[in-house]
Amino acid sequence: MSKKFTVSSFQKAKKDKKKISMLTAYDYSTAKLLDQAEVDSLLVGDSLGMVMLGYENTLQVTMEDMVHHCKAVSRGAKRAMVIGDMPFLSYHISIEESVRNAGRLIQEGGVHAVKLEGGRDVIDQVSAIVKAQIPVIGHLGLTPQSINMFGGFKVQGKNEETARKILEDAMLLQEAGVFAIVLECVPEKLAKLISEKLDIPTIGIGAGKYCDGQVLVTQDMLGMYTDFTPKFVKQYANLNEAIIDATKAYVNEMEEGIFPSKEHTFQIDDEVIEKLY
Ligand code: KIV
Repeated sequence: MSKKFTVSSFQKAKKDKKKISMLTAYDYSTAKLLDQAEVDSLLVGDSLGMVMLGYENTLQVTMEDMVHHCKAVSRGAKRAMVIGDMPFLSYHISIEESVRNAGRLIQEGGVHAVKLEGGRDVIDQVSAIVKAQIPVIGHLGLTPQSINMFGGFKVQGKNEETARKILEDAMLLQEAGVFAIVLECVPEKLAKLISEKLDIPTIGIGAGKYCDGQVLVTQDMLGMYTDFTPKFVKQYANLNEAIIDATKAYVNEMEEGIFPSKEHTFQIDDEVIEKLY
């Protein structure tokens, strides 16, 4: 196993121009597999609301949901750095509540850092959480918790005004102390410019190849979640088909008496069982 990935590894990777890999994880066994594959960081994203809980968007995800899934992922990850997403309303009410909720993800969820969405509007919260010694990742561009303000899942920063706002927000987040920024669904050239201007790494999702790292939702990457597949997703496996085929084979073998066979069955001596008849 190579060295544990930490906040300093993010900084070192940016300096050494080494790409940072990140995938989402929501449960123990998947976290363990991704960790074995040596992905650098695991994000317990609030996307779990959609891919794990079947909601239409991420807005219904609660702190309790996040703590529950962060605990599971933290137990499965040995090398990867685990980041917990702060859900909708967990950092919007007051600075005090924001710090307390970030602290819960660390203390109860066992994660190493938190992520929250937004730029200038959440700068005070970011500074307060960082002051509490909790590493923070920012998230700009298409921030799914603002879906009702955006009017849908749309590419952000396509005109001068919105592109400038994202760039300024990135600089403000860096000043406030975040150690990396996720850029979601922004034009490639804007992500490139931001990545060049920042001293901290950018992690892209639908933001092109010039980011310092990439993140994907694991269920998208493995072809397991098919309700909606964004343009930026590349499927590296078709587990959907593999799971359906395996399930069909199990049902058929069970119905035909092929499963369970002797090798999957426990035996008892005949003279013992005969006494019970
Ligand atoms: O919730 C999530 O999974 C995310 C990533 C898509 C960046 O925020």
